[in-house]
Amino acid sequence: MDVNTSAYIIVQAATQCLALILTVLSSFILLATSISIALLSNQIDSPDAALNWPDEGRIEFRNYSLRYGANLPYALRNIDLHIESGQKIGIIGRTGAGKSSLFKGLYRFVDQSNVTGDILIDDVNIHRLPLNHLRSNLTAIPQQPVMFSGSLRYNLDPFNSYSDEQCWKVLEDVQLKQFVQNHSAGLQMSISEWGRNLSVGQCQLINFARAILKNRKILLFDEATANVDQRTDDLIQTLIKNKFHDRTILIIAHRLNTVAKCDHILVLDNGMVVNYDTLTNILNSYQ
Ligand SMILES: *[C@@H]1O[C@H](CO)[C@@H](O)[C@H](O)[C@H]1NC(C)=O
Ligand SMILES: *[C@@H]1O[C@H](CO)[C@@H](O)[C@H](O)[C@H]1NC(C)=O
Ligand SMILES: *[C@@H]1O[C@H](CO)[C@@H](O)[C@H](O)[C@H]1NC(C)=O
Ligand SMILES: *[C@@H]1O[C@H](CO)[C@@H](O)[C@H](O)[C@H]1NC(C)=O
Ligand SMILES: *[C@@H]1O[C@H](CO)[C@@H](O)[C@H](O)[C@H]1NC(C)=O
Repeated sequence: MDVNTSAYIIVQAATQCLALILTVLSSFILLATSISIALLSNQIDSPDAALNWPDEGRIEFRNYSLRYGANLPYALRNIDLHIESGQKIGIIGRTGAGKSSLFKGLYRFVDQSNVTGDILIDDVNIHRLPLNHLRSNLTAIPQQPVMFSGSLRYNLDPFNSYSDEQCWKVLEDVQLKQFVQNHSAGLQMSISEWGRNLSVGQCQLINFARAILKNRKILLFDEATANVDQRTDDLIQTLIKNKFHDRTILIIAHRLNTVAKCDHILVLDNGMVVNYDTLTNILNSYQ
């Protein structure tokens, strides 16, 4: 081996070494990029990554404030809150304490410029989602049940996404099957505007049946104060326990027995969280 050959071999070796280093380096860069893309896709609207969103139903409020106009006081102030998957949260507080503003914030009913802080559902910032995706993935049952004029079936399944069999099944769940079977038109029985010829309890149960069909991870429920008889109330409690046991439910609670059955109680006052704990701990803290 002469001097020339050995110099050549050294250069060759050095080149190959460099090539190896470059290969390793570039694959690292590729890996790092794909990891950050994977992580970021939670933050940006990646339709693929969000296909099953939300599949857990965790809700997180981060220093969240909301008001209804530039010159109005905040209706929610610096809310920091973690709600775990499947928890039942009873929200209590005086009128104007911010109970329904929480729901309006989740539905993004307020202009973004009047909101500070963030709400995350399963780590996705809801302010970055298309509004229809956000809203169609939530189910709300307001105090005054929502009824459309049309058939009962239309009221259960307005987009005609489920079978008659599934409709009958949920009617059975809410114990209205007999009542509907007794009617000559069955599922096609017509419901007058605002469900005027049904009782408020029946309307509320139809709203629950609709929610069972829709089967979303997160439900917001503003409990009716009046006009719902004891039997309907008991049935709703049973439904929450059996049909929605793995769903996250926020309930604006007006009844003591609802409060008693929730995992956590959220006490709001003047737009702020004054207590967020189990009922037992809250009661103990006042002793
Ligand atoms: C929360 O938001 C307020 C503005 O509403 C801001 O002044 C404060 O620094 C924020 N706190 C944290 C911990 O980010
Ligand atoms: C707040 O909301 C009101 C009413 O929706 C709107 O007119 C106003 O432009 C919004 N922005 C700010 C900064 O207040
Ligand atoms: C729920 O949200 C996801 C992600 O944004 C979206 O792809 C999906 O279409 C939504 N579901 C419905 C029923 O709109
Ligand atoms: C259905 O009809 C049967 C027989 O007419 C009656 O006994 C029953 O009480 C009715 N049920 C309901 C829920 O209306
Ligand atoms: C409600 O009223 C409509 C007509 O407006 C009638 O066809 C329907 O049978 C009524 N439903 C009940 C449950 O009485």
